[in-house]
Amino acid sequence: MASITIRDVRKTYAGGFEAIKGISLDIADGEMVVLVGPSGCGKSTLLRMIAGLEAISSGEIAIDGRVVNALEPSERDIAMVFQNYALYPHMTVRQNMAYGLKNRGMAAAEIERRIAAAAASLEIGSLLERKPRQLSGGQRQRVAMGRAIVREPKAFLFDEPLSNLDAKLRVQMRVEIRKLQRSLSTTSVYVTHDQMEAMTLADRLVVLNGGKIEQVGTPIELYERPATTFVAAFIGSPAMNLIGKDALTADVAGLSLPPDVSTLGVRPEDLKIIGSQKDYPVRLAVEVGAVELVGAESYVHATTASGVEIVFRVAGRSMTAVGSRVDVGAETNAIHLFDAEGRRLEGHGQGAATREV
Ligand SMILES: Nc1ncnc2c1ncn2[C@@H]1O[C@H](COP(=O)(O)OP(=O)(O)OP(=O)(O)O)[C@@H](O)[C@H]1O
Ligand SMILES: [Mg+2]
Repeated sequence: MASITIRDVRKTYAGGFEAIKGISLDIADGEMVVLVGPSGCGKSTLLRMIAGLEAISSGEIAIDGRVVNALEPSERDIAMVFQNYALYPHMTVRQNMAYGLKNRGMAAAEIERRIAAAAASLEIGSLLERKPRQLSGGQRQRVAMGRAIVREPKAFLFDEPLSNLDAKLRVQMRVEIRKLQRSLSTTSVYVTHDQMEAMTLADRLVVLNGGKIEQVGTPIELYERPATTFVAAFIGSPAMNLIGKDALTADVAGLSLPPDVSTLGVRPEDLKIIGSQKDYPVRLAVEVGAVELVGAESYVHATTASGVEIVFRVAGRSMTAVGSRVDVGAETNAIHLFDAEGRRLEGHGQGAATREV
């Protein structure tokens, strides 16, 4: 177990492209940090620099207080789990798990003890004599986890480990990885594209954007108080509605917003169809364009008079027909305000939007 300290780390690839533009982050011993961000924002690059698979152009990475910039991957005592498992096809599950330990000269009895313990916690005891090709995708992923666990590394690095699995298996493995990480208390950095994985696995969530950190916080902090429009749009599905002040002023008669407000944000779950209530700070008359029933709820896509497209969520089946007009509104405390640079306006943020009716 170990802390990981990242100090003003940069990465410029051969050819001159700067993929990581100065990142600092302290990961505590036993913590699970999840990296999210759009494709190409540098998640894998950062993970590979921690692992030692990619050289650091400048800055410092320390594991347990020791700077590891010049250490080989094998000297860092870190285990990495990828989406493509990277198991040796000609070896059995047992041999796959034992391989790294044997190379280190570990005693056979200790290797057996570790494999037995990992196999028990991952429920793969009955698969130990099989070859990878005789396993399902989920079973292979378990073996890849097992191979990481038996090393008893200082930290686990995961790069989208579940993205090859079907939806049901992903959920199951997600829960298992969380349980395992909690029980082993091994410091972990986990990269994913999956909102649910990010929200449920992370002690802290890091949103990357173009090689820089956009925001760090607990999942709920990022969800409730996104620091920028980028984070607001990235965390949450369907994404937060972000409406420009000009469009809003055209759509909402008598709306008064503080002068530094440029964008108003409201989550689809915070917009409600309202009747004649007058006490909503923002009320939008919209025309319903499409309704998606996704099981327990529906996503209603609608357009305001000035042409802004919004989404709101309705429990169960939506009773609103395509083409119908409804009024939607949000409570004051559900409104997020951002300035012209896309930064959250604090202090007078929530509750500052007022409408004279
Ligand atoms: N070996 C390389 N040489 C040059 N550029 C690279 C190299 N590897 C990655 N890049 C570039 O660096 C940027 C970050 O890549 P990286 O793989 O870290 O993104 P990512 O966030 O993991 O994306 P994804 O979500 O698609 O996996 C991308 O623009 C990519 O094209
Ligand atoms: Mg990647």
